[in-house]
Amino acid sequence: MQNPTIAIIGPGRAGSALGRALHGAGYAIAAIFARRPERGQLLAAELGARLTRTPEGALDLADLTILAVPDDVIGPLAGDLAGAQCAGAGRAVVHLSGAQDRTPLLPLQQAGLRTGVFHAVQTFKTGADTVRNIPGTLFGIDADEPLAGALQAMAIALGGEPFDLRGVDRARYHAAAVFVANYPITLLAEARRLMEQSGVSAPTAQRALVQLLRGTLNNLNGGDPEDALTGPAVRGDGRTIQRHLAVLRDDPELQQLYRRLADRTLALAVKSGRLTQVQADGLRTTLLEAI
Ligand SMILES: NC(=O)c1ccc[n+]([C@@H]2O[C@H](COP(=O)([O-])OP(=O)(O)OC[C@H]3O[C@@H](n4cnc5c(N)ncnc54)[C@H](OP(=O)(O)O)[C@@H]3O)[C@@H](O)[C@H]2O)c1
Repeated sequence: MQNPTIAIIGPGRAGSALGRALHGAGYAIAAIFARRPERGQLLAAELGARLTRTPEGALDLADLTILAVPDDVIGPLAGDLAGAQCAGAGRAVVHLSGAQDRTPLLPLQQAGLRTGVFHAVQTFKTGADTVRNIPGTLFGIDADEPLAGALQAMAIALGGEPFDLRGVDRARYHAAAVFVANYPITLLAEARRLMEQSGVSAPTAQRALVQLLRGTLNNLNGGDPEDALTGPAVRGDGRTIQRHLAVLRDDPELQQLYRRLADRTLALAVKSGRLTQVQADGLRTTLLEAI
Protein backbone atom coordinates (compact mmCIF):
# COMPACT_ATOMS: atom_id res chain seq x y z
CA MET A 1 0.00 0.00 0.00
CA GLN A 2 1.28 3.47 -0.87
CA ASN A 3 2.11 5.88 1.96
CA PRO A 4 -0.36 8.75 2.29
CA THR A 5 0.98 12.21 1.53
CA ILE A 6 1.09 14.38 4.64
CA ALA A 7 0.15 17.96 5.56
CA ILE A 8 1.12 19.49 8.89
CA ILE A 9 -0.88 22.34 10.40
CA GLY A 10 1.09 23.87 13.26
CA PRO A 11 4.81 23.10 12.93
CA GLY A 12 5.56 23.49 16.64
CA ARG A 13 7.33 20.96 18.86
CA ALA A 14 5.31 17.84 17.98
CA GLY A 15 4.47 18.85 14.39
CA SER A 16 8.10 19.56 13.47
CA ALA A 17 9.39 16.37 15.11
CA LEU A 18 6.78 14.20 13.36
CA GLY A 19 7.31 16.02 10.07
CA ARG A 20 11.05 15.36 10.18
CA ALA A 21 10.60 11.75 11.28
CA LEU A 22 7.97 11.02 8.61
CA HIS A 23 10.15 12.64 5.94
CA GLY A 24 13.04 10.47 7.13
CA ALA A 25 10.79 7.40 6.93
CA GLY A 26 9.99 8.08 3.26
CA TYR A 27 6.64 9.89 3.62
CA ALA A 28 6.12 12.87 1.31
CA ILE A 29 5.34 16.00 3.33
CA ALA A 30 3.18 17.77 0.76
CA ALA A 31 2.26 20.88 2.74
CA ILE A 32 2.82 22.84 5.92
CA PHE A 33 0.66 25.62 7.30
CA ALA A 34 2.14 27.92 9.93
CA ARG A 35 0.01 30.84 11.13
CA ARG A 36 3.27 32.77 11.30
CA PRO A 37 4.83 31.82 7.94
CA GLU A 38 8.34 32.72 9.09
CA ARG A 39 8.06 29.83 11.58
CA GLY A 40 7.28 27.28 8.85
CA GLN A 41 9.59 28.44 6.08
CA LEU A 42 12.78 26.66 7.10
CA LEU A 43 11.00 23.39 7.92
CA ALA A 44 9.09 23.47 4.63
CA ALA A 45 12.38 23.95 2.74
CA GLU A 46 14.04 21.17 4.74
CA LEU A 47 11.22 18.70 4.05
CA GLY A 48 10.49 19.76 0.47
CA ALA A 49 6.94 20.82 1.44
CA ARG A 50 4.75 23.66 0.14
CA LEU A 51 4.10 26.38 2.71
CA THR A 52 0.43 27.24 2.27
CA ARG A 53 -1.30 30.51 3.11
CA THR A 54 -4.30 28.85 4.77
CA PRO A 55 -4.91 25.65 6.76
CA GLU A 56 -7.45 24.46 4.17
CA GLY A 57 -4.81 25.02 1.48
CA ALA A 58 -2.60 22.48 3.29
CA LEU A 59 -5.46 20.00 3.72
CA ASP A 60 -6.23 20.23 -0.01
CA LEU A 61 -2.70 19.09 -0.91
CA ALA A 62 -2.44 15.91 1.18
CA ASP A 63 -4.12 12.56 1.86
CA LEU A 64 -3.55 12.88 5.61
CA THR A 65 -3.51 16.18 7.51
CA ILE A 66 -2.00 16.36 10.98
CA LEU A 67 -3.44 19.04 13.27
CA ALA A 68 -0.38 19.62 15.45
CA VAL A 69 -1.92 22.57 17.29
CA PRO A 70 -2.55 23.05 21.05
CA ASP A 71 -5.35 20.86 22.42
CA ASP A 72 -7.76 23.77 22.84
CA VAL A 73 -7.28 24.88 19.24
CA ILE A 74 -8.19 21.50 17.67
CA GLY A 75 -11.98 21.93 17.92
CA PRO A 76 -12.20 25.52 16.60
CA LEU A 77 -9.71 24.73 13.81
CA ALA A 78 -11.65 21.60 12.80
CA GLY A 79 -14.84 23.72 12.71
CA ASP A 80 -13.12 26.32 10.48
CA LEU A 81 -11.73 23.64 8.16
CA ALA A 82 -15.12 21.95 7.86
CA GLY A 83 -16.70 25.31 7.05
CA ALA A 84 -14.10 26.16 4.40
CA GLN A 85 -14.74 25.09 0.83
CA CYS A 86 -11.90 22.59 0.61
CA ALA A 87 -11.61 19.31 -1.30
CA GLY A 88 -11.84 17.39 1.95
CA ALA A 89 -14.16 14.46 1.23
CA GLY A 90 -12.31 11.13 1.39
CA ARG A 91 -9.21 12.67 2.95
CA ALA A 92 -8.16 12.12 6.54
CA VAL A 93 -7.40 14.45 9.44
CA VAL A 94 -5.82 13.46 12.75
CA HIS A 95 -4.88 15.37 15.88
CA LEU A 96 -1.97 14.55 18.18
CA SER A 97 -3.53 15.12 21.58
CA GLY A 98 -3.55 12.41 24.21
CA ALA A 99 -6.14 14.27 26.25
CA GLN A 100 -8.88 14.27 23.62
CA ASP A 101 -10.77 11.71 21.60
CA ARG A 102 -12.18 12.26 18.13
CA THR A 103 -15.02 14.50 19.31
CA PRO A 104 -13.36 17.83 18.41
CA LEU A 105 -12.95 16.52 14.84
CA LEU A 106 -16.68 15.78 14.47
CA PRO A 107 -17.37 18.71 12.09
CA LEU A 108 -14.78 17.26 9.70
CA GLN A 109 -16.28 13.78 9.97
CA GLN A 110 -19.69 15.25 9.19
CA ALA A 111 -18.14 16.94 6.15
CA GLY A 112 -17.10 13.51 4.82
CA LEU A 113 -13.50 13.29 6.03
CA ARG A 114 -12.01 10.38 7.94
CA THR A 115 -10.83 11.42 11.38
CA GLY A 116 -8.52 9.97 13.98
CA VAL A 117 -6.05 10.48 16.79
CA PHE A 118 -2.32 9.77 16.52
CA HIS A 119 -0.84 10.27 19.97
CA ALA A 120 2.86 9.81 20.53
CA VAL A 121 3.45 8.81 24.15
CA GLN A 122 6.59 10.86 23.94
CA THR A 123 7.93 14.32 24.73
CA PHE A 124 9.24 16.77 22.13
CA LYS A 125 11.00 20.03 22.81
CA THR A 126 11.93 22.74 20.35
CA GLY A 127 14.82 21.95 18.02
CA ALA A 128 15.77 19.52 15.28
CA ASP A 129 17.38 16.93 17.58
CA THR A 130 14.11 16.17 19.46
CA VAL A 131 13.26 13.85 16.54
CA ARG A 132 15.69 11.39 18.13
CA ASN A 133 13.04 10.65 20.76
CA ILE A 134 10.76 9.00 18.20
CA PRO A 135 12.26 5.53 17.62
CA GLY A 136 10.81 3.14 20.20
CA THR A 137 7.85 5.44 20.95
CA LEU A 138 4.42 3.92 21.53
CA PHE A 139 1.68 5.58 19.46
CA GLY A 140 -1.92 5.53 20.71
CA ILE A 141 -4.28 5.32 17.73
CA ASP A 142 -7.99 6.06 17.69
CA ALA A 143 -9.42 5.58 14.20
CA ASP A 144 -11.59 3.30 12.10
CA GLU A 145 -10.37 1.32 9.12
CA PRO A 146 -8.86 2.06 6.68
CA LEU A 147 -7.34 5.06 8.49
CA ALA A 148 -6.44 2.93 11.53
CA GLY A 149 -4.31 0.64 9.34
CA ALA A 150 -2.57 3.60 7.70
CA LEU A 151 -1.76 5.12 11.12
CA GLN A 152 -0.49 1.79 12.47
CA ALA A 153 1.78 1.49 9.42
CA MET A 154 2.96 5.05 10.04
CA ALA A 155 3.83 4.30 13.68
CA ILE A 156 5.82 1.23 12.60
CA ALA A 157 7.57 3.16 9.81
CA LEU A 158 8.68 5.67 12.46
CA GLY A 159 10.33 2.85 14.42
CA GLY A 160 7.52 2.97 16.98
CA GLU A 161 4.78 0.67 18.18
CA PRO A 162 1.05 1.29 17.67
CA PHE A 163 -1.61 0.50 20.25
CA ASP A 164 -5.38 0.95 20.34
CA LEU A 165 -6.68 4.05 22.12
CA ARG A 166 -10.36 3.41 21.40
CA GLY A 167 -12.41 3.25 24.58
CA VAL A 168 -9.56 4.62 26.69
CA ASP A 169 -10.44 7.33 29.27
CA ARG A 170 -8.33 10.12 27.81
CA ALA A 171 -8.16 12.40 30.84
CA ARG A 172 -6.85 9.56 33.01
CA TYR A 173 -4.52 8.29 30.27
CA HIS A 174 -3.08 11.75 29.65
CA ALA A 175 -2.71 12.51 33.36
CA ALA A 176 -0.53 9.39 33.52
CA ALA A 177 1.66 10.68 30.70
CA VAL A 178 1.97 14.09 32.34
CA PHE A 179 3.09 12.49 35.62
CA VAL A 180 6.00 10.87 33.82
CA ALA A 181 6.89 13.45 31.15
CA ASN A 182 6.42 16.73 33.00
CA TYR A 183 6.48 16.36 36.76
CA PRO A 184 9.92 14.72 36.96
CA ILE A 185 11.18 17.96 35.37
CA THR A 186 9.46 19.96 38.10
CA LEU A 187 10.94 17.64 40.73
CA LEU A 188 14.37 17.96 39.14
CA ALA A 189 14.13 21.76 39.31
CA GLU A 190 13.21 21.56 43.02
CA ALA A 191 16.01 19.06 43.63
CA ARG A 192 18.54 21.30 41.89
CA ARG A 193 17.48 24.24 44.04
CA LEU A 194 17.86 22.13 47.20
CA MET A 195 21.27 20.85 46.15
CA GLU A 196 22.45 24.38 45.38
CA GLN A 197 21.22 25.47 48.83
CA SER A 198 23.23 22.60 50.29
CA GLY A 199 26.42 24.19 48.90
CA VAL A 200 26.94 22.37 45.59
CA SER A 201 27.47 24.64 42.56
CA ALA A 202 24.59 24.93 40.07
CA PRO A 203 26.40 23.25 37.13
CA THR A 204 27.58 20.35 39.31
CA ALA A 205 24.11 19.94 40.82
CA GLN A 206 22.55 19.88 37.35
CA ARG A 207 24.99 17.28 36.02
CA ALA A 208 24.83 15.15 39.15
CA LEU A 209 21.03 15.07 39.23
CA VAL A 210 20.54 14.43 35.50
CA GLN A 211 23.03 11.58 35.71
CA LEU A 212 21.11 10.25 38.72
CA LEU A 213 17.88 10.43 36.72
CA ARG A 214 19.55 8.45 33.92
CA GLY A 215 20.53 5.78 36.43
CA THR A 216 16.95 5.68 37.73
CA LEU A 217 15.68 5.16 34.17
CA ASN A 218 18.25 2.41 33.62
CA ASN A 219 17.06 0.70 36.79
CA LEU A 220 13.47 0.88 35.53
CA ASN A 221 14.24 -0.70 32.19
CA GLY A 222 11.88 -3.57 31.54
CA GLY A 223 10.78 -4.05 35.16
CA ASP A 224 8.00 -2.97 37.50
CA PRO A 225 8.47 0.35 39.34
CA GLU A 226 8.72 -1.33 42.76
CA ASP A 227 11.68 -3.43 41.59
CA ALA A 228 13.64 -0.27 40.70
CA LEU A 229 13.03 1.39 44.08
CA THR A 230 16.04 2.46 46.16
CA GLY A 231 16.40 5.06 48.94
CA PRO A 232 15.44 5.57 52.57
CA ALA A 233 11.76 4.53 52.33
CA VAL A 234 12.42 1.06 50.93
CA ARG A 235 15.47 0.66 53.23
CA GLY A 236 13.39 1.59 56.24
CA ASP A 237 15.76 4.47 57.14
CA GLY A 238 13.29 6.49 59.20
CA ARG A 239 15.89 8.80 60.74
CA THR A 240 17.12 9.89 57.31
CA ILE A 241 13.55 10.73 56.30
CA GLN A 242 13.15 12.72 59.54
CA ARG A 243 16.29 14.74 58.77
CA HIS A 244 15.00 15.48 55.25
CA LEU A 245 11.68 16.70 56.62
CA ALA A 246 13.48 18.85 59.20
CA VAL A 247 15.49 20.79 56.60
CA LEU A 248 12.36 21.23 54.47
CA ARG A 249 10.57 23.06 57.30
CA ASP A 250 11.48 26.39 55.70
CA ASP A 251 9.43 25.40 52.63
CA PRO A 252 6.18 23.87 53.97
CA GLU A 253 4.75 23.16 50.50
CA LEU A 254 7.83 21.23 49.43
CA GLN A 255 7.88 19.45 52.79
CA GLN A 256 4.26 18.45 52.22
CA LEU A 257 5.07 17.23 48.71
CA TYR A 258 7.98 15.18 50.08
CA ARG A 259 5.75 13.68 52.74
CA ARG A 260 3.05 12.71 50.25
CA LEU A 261 5.58 11.16 47.88
CA ALA A 262 7.23 9.30 50.78
CA ASP A 263 3.81 7.98 51.79
CA ARG A 264 3.13 6.57 48.28
CA THR A 265 6.72 5.28 48.13
CA LEU A 266 6.20 3.32 51.35
CA ALA A 267 3.20 1.58 49.76
CA LEU A 268 5.40 0.72 46.78
CA ALA A 269 8.12 -0.55 49.11
CA VAL A 270 5.60 -2.93 50.72
CA LYS A 271 4.57 -4.09 47.23
CA SER A 272 8.24 -4.82 46.44
CA GLY A 273 8.35 -7.20 49.41
CA ARG A 274 11.34 -5.40 50.94
CA LEU A 275 9.34 -3.67 53.67
CA THR A 276 6.57 -5.18 55.78
CA GLN A 277 3.28 -3.41 56.30
CA VAL A 278 4.16 -2.99 60.01
CA GLN A 279 7.49 -1.34 59.12
CA ALA A 280 5.76 0.93 56.62
CA ASP A 281 3.15 1.97 59.20
CA GLY A 282 5.95 2.75 61.67
CA LEU A 283 7.65 4.98 59.10
CA ARG A 284 4.34 6.71 58.37
CA THR A 285 4.17 7.70 62.02
CA THR A 286 7.68 9.15 61.59
CA LEU A 287 6.38 11.21 58.67
CA LEU A 288 3.56 12.62 60.76
CA GLU A 289 5.75 13.32 63.81
CA ALA A 290 8.24 15.30 61.78
CA ILE A 291 5.66 17.83 60.54
N1 LIG B 1 5.26 18.50 22.58
C1 LIG B 1 5.02 17.28 23.02
O1 LIG B 1 5.83 16.70 23.78
C2 LIG B 1 3.78 16.52 22.60
C3 LIG B 1 3.76 15.12 22.75
C4 LIG B 1 2.63 14.41 22.34
C5 LIG B 1 1.53 15.09 21.82
N2 LIG B 1 1.58 16.46 21.72
C6 LIG B 1 0.39 17.13 21.16
O2 LIG B 1 0.76 17.83 19.98
C7 LIG B 1 -0.06 18.99 19.84
C8 LIG B 1 0.85 20.21 19.66
O3 LIG B 1 1.62 20.37 20.85
P1 LIG B 1 3.06 21.06 20.81
O4 LIG B 1 3.70 20.75 22.10
O5 LIG B 1 3.76 20.74 19.54
O6 LIG B 1 2.63 22.60 20.81
P2 LIG B 1 3.48 23.85 20.28
O7 LIG B 1 4.93 23.55 20.27
O8 LIG B 1 2.99 25.02 21.05
O9 LIG B 1 3.03 24.00 18.75
C9 LIG B 1 1.72 24.34 18.42
C10 LIG B 1 1.68 24.79 16.98
O10 LIG B 1 0.33 25.19 16.67
C11 LIG B 1 0.33 26.53 16.17
N3 LIG B 1 -0.91 27.18 16.56
C12 LIG B 1 -1.28 27.65 17.79
N4 LIG B 1 -2.51 28.18 17.74
C13 LIG B 1 -2.91 28.08 16.45
C14 LIG B 1 -4.08 28.48 15.76
N5 LIG B 1 -5.09 29.08 16.40
N6 LIG B 1 -4.16 28.21 14.42
C15 LIG B 1 -3.16 27.60 13.77
N7 LIG B 1 -2.01 27.21 14.36
C16 LIG B 1 -1.90 27.45 15.68
C17 LIG B 1 1.55 27.17 16.80
O11 LIG B 1 1.90 28.32 16.04
P3 LIG B 1 2.81 29.50 16.71
O12 LIG B 1 4.21 29.00 16.61
O13 LIG B 1 2.52 30.66 15.82
O14 LIG B 1 2.33 29.68 18.12
C18 LIG B 1 2.57 26.02 16.68
O15 LIG B 1 3.06 25.91 15.36
C19 LIG B 1 -0.94 19.06 21.09
O16 LIG B 1 -2.20 18.50 20.81
C20 LIG B 1 -0.20 18.19 22.08
O17 LIG B 1 -1.05 17.62 23.05
C21 LIG B 1 2.66 17.17 22.09
